[in-house]
Amino acid sequence: MKSVSQRTAMFRRTASFCAVLAAIVSSPVQSQDTSPKPSPADLVDALKTMAGNPPHARANFAKGACVRSHYVPAATAGRVTRSKSFTQASDVLARFSVSSGNPHVADTNKGALRGLSLHLGTESNRSDLLLENAPVHFARDLTQMLASLKARTAGPDGKLDPQVFKDFGAANPEALNQAHFVGARQLPGSWAGTFYWGVHAFPATNNKGETRFIKFKVVPLAGEITLNEEEAKTHPNDFLRADLAQRLSSGPVRFEILAILDQPGDQVMDTTQRWTDEDKRETVRLGTLSIIDLAPDGSCDGDIFNPARLADGIGLPKDEIFAARAPAYAISLGKRLN
Ligand code: HEM
Repeated sequence: MKSVSQRTAMFRRTASFCAVLAAIVSSPVQSQDTSPKPSPADLVDALKTMAGNPPHARANFAKGACVRSHYVPAATAGRVTRSKSFTQASDVLARFSVSSGNPHVADTNKGALRGLSLHLGTESNRSDLLLENAPVHFARDLTQMLASLKARTAGPDGKLDPQVFKDFGAANPEALNQAHFVGARQLPGSWAGTFYWGVHAFPATNNKGETRFIKFKVVPLAGEITLNEEEAKTHPNDFLRADLAQRLSSGPVRFEILAILDQPGDQVMDTTQRWTDEDKRETVRLGTLSIIDLAPDGSCDGDIFNPARLADGIGLPKDEIFAARAPAYAISLGKRLN
């Protein structure tokens, strides 16, 4: 049997331990980096600087081809989303592209991504979908993104110091996931034969009112078309547009738009990470996109494909990278129209 004084001492020790624990749990995490978070304008400036500030060009994915296409929903679309952009047929203005703010980047550049942007739906239920040929982004937050862009930017002597990016990669291994994904594959040989991903986790509400996270994946019905190193050497810098025009001359180029379904416990905030076994996940067909013909490039250039423009039934992803995108695209539009 403990005495009153022993019990009082034990209570004091327990109370002081609890106070210390509470202080640890409630105190803000001390970050080494006290610099303010980059703004969307900082990122646009960094993208433009990296590309050498070409005038009247998009800050990223500056090279591209505008196309007319048509979307037909699959019977299964409503299982995933009630969005009329996905459950109803529509004519779709779309744009294939190559990453970099340099509008003359070579299509044979293995480090450049392929992009696909869509204005789905009709005016009253428009959703813009922006996709690239990698399932992850090259940064999990804006600070890391700015550091990555700066590490890949030539110095005042016009030269790139490879050691700077090597050091960045060693300190930020997850920021290399995208480069590893692309580097492990052959060069895409055609916009028509490329897989594209929407990268972020989007909350989708179906026609029963149930909400879950999905990731968008676009699959070419022609299968994957790639070039080996020898073939790439014989292809001109601008082969992608000519390849597309040639394929369209013999009929539409088709893609399936799929939703990859979440599972309990999936993280939805880190754009450098895929979901576990993502390639083996259950997918649901949302619809088929048929590219019909090339459109004058001006038809895609007067406005942005706005990642945050989503009709009811698909919500905004919650991660920090996504939140910066729409303002960055608007800033880039302002710069390129001036
Ligand atoms: C914070 C992260 C990002 C920033 C700051 C950013 C910035 C930009 C900017 C400024 C443009 C040019 C917009 C214009 O002038 O119209 C652009 C285009 C584009 N971005 Fe991003 N981006 C980000 C993340 C992503 C991600 C994760 C994807 C892939 C899903 C992506 C795919 C695209 C595509 C496909 C285009 C071309 C749009 C078009 O065809 O007009 N971006 N990006």
